[in-house]
Amino acid sequence: MKNLKKIDIFRPECFTWEPMDYVDLYSLYGKKWRYASKGRYALYHILKYSNIKGKILIPVYVCETVLIPLRLLNIEPIFYDINLDDLNANISSIERIGKQYDISAVLVVSMYGNPADYESLETICKKNNWFMIDDGAQAMGAKFNGRYVGTFGDAGFYSFSPGKPTAGPMGAFYWMSEMCSSIHYTRHKWLHKLFYYEFYINRVKIYDNVSVLLRKLLSLLVLFTNKVFDIKEDGIEDFEQPILSHICAKSLGKYMIVKNKIRNNIIQSIEIPGMRFLKAKRGKENAYKLVIIAKEKLLAQKLIKFLNKNGIYARSGYSMLTCDFALLPNAAQIDGCVVEIPLECSVRKKNFLIKILKKFRYCINE
Ligand SMILES: Cc1ncc(COP(=O)(O)O)c(C=O)c1O
Repeated sequence: MKNLKKIDIFRPECFTWEPMDYVDLYSLYGKKWRYASKGRYALYHILKYSNIKGKILIPVYVCETVLIPLRLLNIEPIFYDINLDDLNANISSIERIGKQYDISAVLVVSMYGNPADYESLETICKKNNWFMIDDGAQAMGAKFNGRYVGTFGDAGFYSFSPGKPTAGPMGAFYWMSEMCSSIHYTRHKWLHKLFYYEFYINRVKIYDNVSVLLRKLLSLLVLFTNKVFDIKEDGIEDFEQPILSHICAKSLGKYMIVKNKIRNNIIQSIEIPGMRFLKAKRGKENAYKLVIIAKEKLLAQKLIKFLNKNGIYARSGYSMLTCDFALLPNAAQIDGCVVEIPLECSVRKKNFLIKILKKFRYCINE
């Protein structure tokens, strides 16, 4: 296992410059899709063109970038609680808080590729006349009742940013029940190219011998350009289309089946006292991370440290988007207790991960 010493368990599988296995993204899953440069900007377009104003209900546990379009459009976020078992929307919390705050829209997320309870969500949104946005950023390819996550409600989107089940350098696709006719796109082709090179060197070639200086320089450039240039209205560049299409063809086919198997196999192989594995409660998942919930923050931190020391990339889950937990008891309970381990389609790495988790189980009390 010497060669695994420095290895993180994460490398996007399906990035290529070759236009192969073409998937027509624009008419996938029976919807008409439009491009946005990032998931957050897909949400921006949905909110802007659907004329959402006032308050929106969003999960308290989700990537904080969803707050960016809300700030841009002056929409106030109100937070709903999540379920302890799958970290998806807690239906009674949505109903109670939504009515209390007179909200106009609800953002629904299928966390970590596990489908949310869309049946109940569509019902309460219809009943209360709330605009429902299906955020499928973490769950493209997952299904509930034969329908794809991302296609429920009044609008939806997917993201192709690094760290997603459909990981790429950038890009997103969104749909709305009422599409506005024309959008005036901006263009930053060189910037899109820069994102691609950074992703290629720092993610796809993560295990290759590339100069540290080059890696750092590219990351800094991306960080800088992200702050300076406004790409929220950017259109797709010609070179990106086949790449995104290829990413989808690959990551929603064989890789999805293998990763689901790998995750389920790890879950069945091991029990760790004081910890539990996140599983799909319903539908067909797209598992791209192994998610562990510890009963205490300290235990979660101990696990992350242990995995990192043994050459496995692991990080803590998202920070809660508010510290006011008065109406959010479940969020309060798991705050700081979530551990994320990205998965690769490799049986060798799966076995290594199981071995290290078993080792952790024996030194848990040290
Ligand atoms: C659930 C969810 N929605 C939206 C986003 C925003 O996507 P992007 O990073 O492409 O802007 C993320 C990003 O992590 C996410 O996890």
